[in-house]
Amino acid sequence: MTQARQLVVPPVAMAGQPLAAVSTPALVIDLDAFGSNLKQMAGLAGAAGMALRPHAKAHKSVAIAQRQVAAGATGICCQKLTEAYPFAAAGIASIHLSNEFIGADKAAMAAELAARTQLSLCVDDPRQVHEVGAAAAHAGVKIDVLPEVDAGQGRCGVSSADALMALVEAIDTYPALRFAGLQGYHGGAQHVRGWQQRRETAQRAAELTAGYLRHLEARGLRCQVVTGGGTGTAEFDIASGVYTEIQPGSYLFMDADYGANEWSGAFRPEHSLFIAATVMSATRPGHAVCDVGLKTVAVDSGLPRVWSRQATTLR
Ligand SMILES: Cc1ncc(COP(=O)(O)O)c(C=O)c1O
Repeated sequence: MTQARQLVVPPVAMAGQPLAAVSTPALVIDLDAFGSNLKQMAGLAGAAGMALRPHAKAHKSVAIAQRQVAAGATGICCQKLTEAYPFAAAGIASIHLSNEFIGADKAAMAAELAARTQLSLCVDDPRQVHEVGAAAAHAGVKIDVLPEVDAGQGRCGVSSADALMALVEAIDTYPALRFAGLQGYHGGAQHVRGWQQRRETAQRAAELTAGYLRHLEARGLRCQVVTGGGTGTAEFDIASGVYTEIQPGSYLFMDADYGANEWSGAFRPEHSLFIAATVMSATRPGHAVCDVGLKTVAVDSGLPRVWSRQATTLR
């Protein structure tokens, strides 16, 4: 019997090939649209003197994070500790964990990350502050802590000034922690379809956040950072005068859900990330089967839409 050659799946594409030569299904990026989105958001934030801290959960790619930083981003956001590890290891200098976590094991991970990058994180419960404070002291690192306030979404974040003050006081008891400001993020506002209605929802979220800022200021507490905002509301958050920093993630690629938003303001994103697919069976009129398995696509915002180069919208 002859020695069998090792079986290796051929690459779906090689750099420089035309789209027609790409073996489907394949995830493809339109670099012109990607570059336009990258530049537009950096330009909007930069022109307003606002920090841009893109959310890396949208891409989970060190190479893309480095391009965002090269285009002017102050750092990145991550939603999970594990998500942050490759970015910290690759030298991304500033990472904000824009989501709560709980448990001494997780606090130890945060302290480990803080030894490699300038780390900030969100809290909405004093228990988290105590766990992170103890872990940071044990590891000999400093961590910036930003209490999250509920900006109207009703997800995470404190919803009273008393609860906020309890967090600020808890942070103050740990020399390894620094109260650095607030996070006020409203996820639901991002996908309000009408531009004007989205603007009004974002304004209400900013006003809720501003109420907490006034409460802190009246007690002599200054927030160096007020962070929030996503792709859908970035232009309104920039104009609000409340935030110092925005955290958009999806703006680079866009998606079908964001494609259904009305974009009539300063930010005009383009779809840049696609799954190239081929119809592999069409046995009867009005019926086509693609080589994209259901489990390879996200369906939480409905089934994928078909993109045509001729049309400017998803169908
Ligand atoms: C806290 C936080 N900030 C920013 C974002 C980025 O939002 P988007 O991808 O809609 O721009 C998200 C996404 O869900 C988020 O949860």
